[in-house]
Amino acid sequence: MTAVSPASPLRRDLTNAPLLAAARGQAPQHTPVWFMRQAGRSLPEYRKLREGVPMLTACFTPDMVAEVTLQPVRRHGVDGAILFSDIVVPLKAAGIDLDIVPGTGPVVADPVRDEDGVNALPELDPASLDPVAEAVGILVRELGDVPLIGFAGAPFTLASYLIEGGPSRHHERTKALMKARPDVWHALLGRIADYTLTFLRIQLDAGVDAVQLFDSWAGALSERDYREFVFPHSQRVLTGLAPAGVPRIHFGVGTAELLPAMREAGADVVGVDWRLPLDEAVRRLEAAAPDAPRPVVQGNLDPAVLFAGWDVVEREVRRIVAEGEAAAGHVFNLGHGVMPETDPNVLTRVVELVHSIR
Ligand code: CP3
Repeated sequence: MTAVSPASPLRRDLTNAPLLAAARGQAPQHTPVWFMRQAGRSLPEYRKLREGVPMLTACFTPDMVAEVTLQPVRRHGVDGAILFSDIVVPLKAAGIDLDIVPGTGPVVADPVRDEDGVNALPELDPASLDPVAEAVGILVRELGDVPLIGFAGAPFTLASYLIEGGPSRHHERTKALMKARPDVWHALLGRIADYTLTFLRIQLDAGVDAVQLFDSWAGALSERDYREFVFPHSQRVLTGLAPAGVPRIHFGVGTAELLPAMREAGADVVGVDWRLPLDEAVRRLEAAAPDAPRPVVQGNLDPAVLFAGWDVVEREVRRIVAEGEAAAGHVFNLGHGVMPETDPNVLTRVVELVHSIR
């Protein structure tokens, strides 16, 4: 496994970009805002471009990746672009037989459920991710002074897809393997952490300005199990990225009990879903690490609120911006991804509103 190289010569100097200032806990010109899943089916221009092109084909087509990444930046004036890709892209690049099924999500042909399955996992040749690096190259040239956020799936969330074979409500096979065969579990998460690091390293070498590690389903675990079975692997990923010197955001859904551990794993910015007010998240993070620098948080408008009419949206946005003042830095976002049926005009208004408040 190759290490992350220090500062890439391809990375732009964006010291004053609000997203990066807030992520460092410095005072930005305005509160930065971007949306998880800002690129995607909520945008008619996205649906038009993707017509007839399978999701994973799109992810390996540099021009299309670049265009889809730029669409929400042009339309909404967000403070960050997130690379259009998917958490399963490095698995696909390694040669694992999987697909992204519309309306369902990733589906794996031969789920990994035992030692033989782990041993059969292919090596990931970084060159198979060249199209992703090429897309990042186009984007750093075209984005002007808007930072580009790279991302990857965290080992636990990817393990859940590999073990269950697809999306899962209870993650029962995943937890069963974790508890019954800790040796196989740790070997699997180690292999996945290698994939994740390779995927992030090629993005960082190509010039992304920040990274987000998505541990979307980690909230299914108790803190005890998270610390024993997941933390070491996510920590290896996050600390392995440190030499690049870019902000590392760590996000999951339903992780109110895990936030201190997720920060301790090596996050500069802690993503918070809508279940926990940001000021309470800050309180928990500070209580757990009184000697650490004051925390920086990202979040946390409930994506469902975007359907409730503008008066409700405005009230909630104002509350969240106020609660975010408890942190050393606040990156405004949703508490999870934009839903496909969302009216994109509401998202544009949220950006304008956040920028007008502070
Ligand atoms: O705009 C962005 O946020 C960047 C692109 C992005 C996608 N997937 C594109 C995508 C990001 C950051 C992801 C991450 C991802 N993928 C996660 C972690 C974030 C989260 O939502 O918690 C997860 C769990 C996945 C797995 C996955 N891929 C799911 C659950 C789905 C949705 C399936 C569906 O059709 O509802 C996908 C497909 C996917 N990834 C789409 C997009 C835009 C939709 C595909 C399409 O447009 O047909």
